[in-house]
Amino acid sequence: FPVVVLISGTGSNLAALLAAERAEDCPYAVVAVLADRDASGLEHARAAGLPTEVVPLADHADRAAWDAALAEAVAAHRPQLVVLAGFMKLVGPALLEAFGGRIVNTHPALLPSFPGAHGVRDALAHGVRITGCSVIEVDAGVDTGRILAQAAVEVREEDTEATLHARIKAVEQPLLVDVVRRLAAAS
Ligand code: GRF
Repeated sequence: FPVVVLISGTGSNLAALLAAERAEDCPYAVVAVLADRDASGLEHARAAGLPTEVVPLADHADRAAWDAALAEAVAAHRPQLVVLAGFMKLVGPALLEAFGGRIVNTHPALLPSFPGAHGVRDALAHGVRITGCSVIEVDAGVDTGRILAQAAVEVREEDTEATLHARIKAVEQPLLVDVVRRLAAAS
């Protein structure tokens, strides 16, 4: 069950997927890691000997051209699942058309609350006592796809965006691994 992972950041979710893959009975295999920028998380892929590719928006004439190039780069690895693991760009119609229903995303809030790029900060600013993370199926909207799994995290009085995000990531990683394992086992 080949999986392509897309990242923009430190790749902690990618690292969790790779670590879980070392278990003998793991039903999926990460076959390539792509990014929209020179993300530090690509290091996890290189350390695992996986092919990597950076497809920056700025290198393309417009968003449609970038989307098409990204879809092509992903398709080259023939994945059965595409995982957005801290990929901070909206995917476009080319990728959705090629892999619709087979793209999942992880978001650091309990959707449909606090969608968008600042899920942790927005939850903190709103003053919710419980937040968490969601793994969703990607559709054309911003964090609007079908919810596949969620986990709750309590907000503490002294929390900053960084401390809260760290505790969210600690539950987000096993949750994402679990969803990918489940989808692979069901295929
Ligand atoms: C994750 O919390 C993800 O949900 C959010 O950004 C974070 C990325 O972390 N969108 P990492 O790059 O996997 O460490």
